[in-house]
Amino acid sequence: MKKIVITGGAGFIGSHVVRRFVNRYPDVQIYNLDALTYAGNLENIKDIQDMPNYTFLKADITDADVINELFDKYKFDGVLHLAAESHVDRSIKDPLAFVKTNVIGTMNLLNAFKALWKDNFEGKRFYHISTDEVYGSLGAEGLFTEETSYDPNSPYSASKAASDHFVRAYGETYGMPYVLTNCSNNYGPYHFPEKLIPLFINNIINNKPLPVYGDGKYTRDWLFVEDHAVAIDLVFHEGKNHETYNIGGFNEWQNIDLVKLLCTIMDKKLGRDEGTSEKLITYVTDRPGHDLRYAIDATKINKELGWKPSVTFEQGLERTIDWFLNNQEWLDSVTSGDYQKYYDNQYSVSK
Ligand code: NAD
Ligand code: DAU
Repeated sequence: MKKIVITGGAGFIGSHVVRRFVNRYPDVQIYNLDALTYAGNLENIKDIQDMPNYTFLKADITDADVINELFDKYKFDGVLHLAAESHVDRSIKDPLAFVKTNVIGTMNLLNAFKALWKDNFEGKRFYHISTDEVYGSLGAEGLFTEETSYDPNSPYSASKAASDHFVRAYGETYGMPYVLTNCSNNYGPYHFPEKLIPLFINNIINNKPLPVYGDGKYTRDWLFVEDHAVAIDLVFHEGKNHETYNIGGFNEWQNIDLVKLLCTIMDKKLGRDEGTSEKLITYVTDRPGHDLRYAIDATKINKELGWKPSVTFEQGLERTIDWFLNNQEWLDSVTSGDYQKYYDNQYSVSK
């Protein structure tokens, strides 16, 4: 039986990828390797935890000995690497944590994979899941293509850029078969409520302020998470070795317009008067080094692999909001403890 390890499978995107792979590939053994940091939650994949082709491995990718032992024991044919510290604001407060997990952690996986297969990489694959933030910030015009130079601005994006470079370097230097994708902002069920959309949904439900950074005129390109999981499946199975693919939603929104749309939909769903939630909008101190605009040109993956988003933003947002409204226990459980401390600290300094 083929063995695939998915790192970060208890996180937001990873949980959708694990679910898809476990359900779609019953003849493949899927290992979910995750340290269960504040962002990892086994509740996210409860529905597939008893499937015969699923195994959970609690492990920290920063621990080289543990990672080498696991690769030696299970002899994974394929790696889908999603484990990361993923929140830009946290990276501004603690950059080293991002170097440890995103750079050293990736190095440990690359080294373990290389040690296992270096004599014959035939049929093996290391897939590194990365972000569009490595390209830096766009002005009002233009799109990120696979040829855009790296120009990261935050400690998060710098650490992801470094990990991307190491993956490519292992491909060039050791002939390691890899694929790499750079994706735009995801949203959907199980999104951790420190990120814009789930944070604001949670705050609207609880009548708490909606902290919009700066003037709110920053632009992101939003993609429904299940469409990202489809793209990841496609690239893992059909992408060309040593290639990068950009993945995006063809769906740009200025933050303030997106927040207003969220408020309108939520007012309707919660039976509140029109305009109620908009009153919660509060402009706060900007994020340092805030990238103005991200937008992906996803022509390559569309032309070569036939991928495109399957849901419109309106459909995806509706499904996301409904999921959060129907899963308030999940929301409550993840918005306690460590997260609460982070939240208090993050927003106590805002004006
Ligand atoms: P997330 O923060 O929701 O989940 C990260 C997961 O990694 C968690 O389950 C956590 O427990 C695990 N993890 C963290 N440190 C670990 C360690 N040292 N060892 C083992 N496991 C560890 O992240 P996400 O938003 O699902 O992002 C997943 C990946 O996709 C990341 O690599 C991120 O850079 C990339 N990405 C995210 C987005 C997005 O919009 N969220 C967009 C493009 C790319
Ligand atoms: O582009 C892909 C990236 O998208 C991923 O690599 C990251 O892991 C992911 O976190 C996301 O990064 P962003 O910084 O774009 O996402 P975030 O949800 O943190 O912020 C989205 C926008 O909303 C950004 O312009 C900052 C703004 N914002 C965010 C928060 C949390 C606010 O105005 N207020 C907030 O409270």
